[in-house]
Amino acid sequence: MAQLWGGRFEGKTDDAVWAFNASIGFDIRLLDVDIEGSIAHAKMLGKQQIIPQEEADAIVKGLTELREEQAEDAGAYEDVHSFVEAKLIEKIGDAGKKLHTGRSRNDQVALDMRLYTREQITGMRALLLEMLRTLHALMKEHLHTCMPGFTHLQKAQPVTLAHHLGAYFEMFKRDADRCADIYERMNVCPLGSGALAGTTYPLDRDYVAALLGFDGVCDNSMDGVSDRDYLIEYLAALATVQMHLSRFAEEIILWNSDEYRFITIDDAFATGSSIMPQKKNPDIAELVRGKTGRVYGDLLSLLTTMKGLPLAYNKDMQEDKEQAFDAFDTVNESLALFTEMLKGITFHKDVMERSAVKGFTNATDAADYLVKKGVPFRDAHGIIGKLVLHCIEKNCAIDDLPLEELKTFSPQFEEDVFEAVSLKTCVEKRLTQGAPGTEAMEKVIALHERTLREIEISMIAQQSGR
Ligand code: ARG
Repeated sequence: MAQLWGGRFEGKTDDAVWAFNASIGFDIRLLDVDIEGSIAHAKMLGKQQIIPQEEADAIVKGLTELREEQAEDAGAYEDVHSFVEAKLIEKIGDAGKKLHTGRSRNDQVALDMRLYTREQITGMRALLLEMLRTLHALMKEHLHTCMPGFTHLQKAQPVTLAHHLGAYFEMFKRDADRCADIYERMNVCPLGSGALAGTTYPLDRDYVAALLGFDGVCDNSMDGVSDRDYLIEYLAALATVQMHLSRFAEEIILWNSDEYRFITIDDAFATGSSIMPQKKNPDIAELVRGKTGRVYGDLLSLLTTMKGLPLAYNKDMQEDKEQAFDAFDTVNESLALFTEMLKGITFHKDVMERSAVKGFTNATDAADYLVKKGVPFRDAHGIIGKLVLHCIEKNCAIDDLPLEELKTFSPQFEEDVFEAVSLKTCVEKRLTQGAPGTEAMEKVIALHERTLREIEISMIAQQSGR
């Protein structure tokens, strides 16, 4: 047991209590950011002459060396903060004991989690960007790949694969935007909040914030040590990313099934069965779908941890770490793997197209045809409904019927109906903004070319602002 406190204690900490209280098992992953924050704090202590400059320099040098060393014996310490301080004192002697001047573990851990989460958000934006690039390339490739669009999982109207994938582009674009918003809001430095009430030392908080790439400092020290809103926001954003992935995963699973046969997943991203030799299962997509539950759980756990906590710091907040780390790891891994899986999928255009002409996906267009010939839409809807029923009985498509037979349902049908309800027309003529028609899609694809560049530029700007 190596601890930072003990002066006011007469008895020894119970072993089980020590183990229950310790966070080193999971907060050791904050080691780098803890050292980064401590270096900034030490530089400021020296600059403000709160400790002698030579001692501040020795601390910075010691911490810089520690960064390169292995954290082998960390397990004996209560948390990452105690570990770093003890190692520093071991290395440079008494000067190391001055590092914690004007600081508390409460503002230290608040800083560490912000630094770590900030890195995570940047990493997530890079993963989302890669997904967007992948989708964008597929959209360009499949501008003319027709497929059925579904509502209620029933064939509805024909669309294109580019259009279908474009919907996921929009979702992941919003996810990337959300990450950028959260980053901007959370990028204020809590260090200098002290335990809860600031400090009487003449700290230069702005200097520390600038060294660490923050846009400013938090304005209330009690909030500074106890705010976890940014983590809740980020976990909510991650839960949304995972929800989007799980919808996509569900479609991949369906499309890969023998019933659909729209796609084939690359062997590298599928697994077999121990008993059924024929099986090639879409386990990755299923796991991504399944892991959504734990990400939602992480968000709900953190919200519940924070519920009813009085100001300011409470040890409950130590629980934020495992919840947050689990969500970070799960979504990072899911998104990275899913994007790679997507790159290796073979889309069976012929099957998709054949599926699009079946199932009366042109029924709306047939009704619209009659409307253009002067029939009120509601009447046209009824006529085509009867026609569909007739075709179901005859097991054929609307445009399989000869014109004379069509005319028995409405005299307005003419020779041009066949062209009007063909798959090509049904897709191509849908030209409202955001629709699957080629020209409409081309506009969106060009727009997204810019979207991708804007995200790249804003990521570079955010990085160089640090
Ligand atoms: N391990 C603690 C946490 O994660 C660090 C802060 C401890 N502060 C304290 N007053 N005990 O929250």
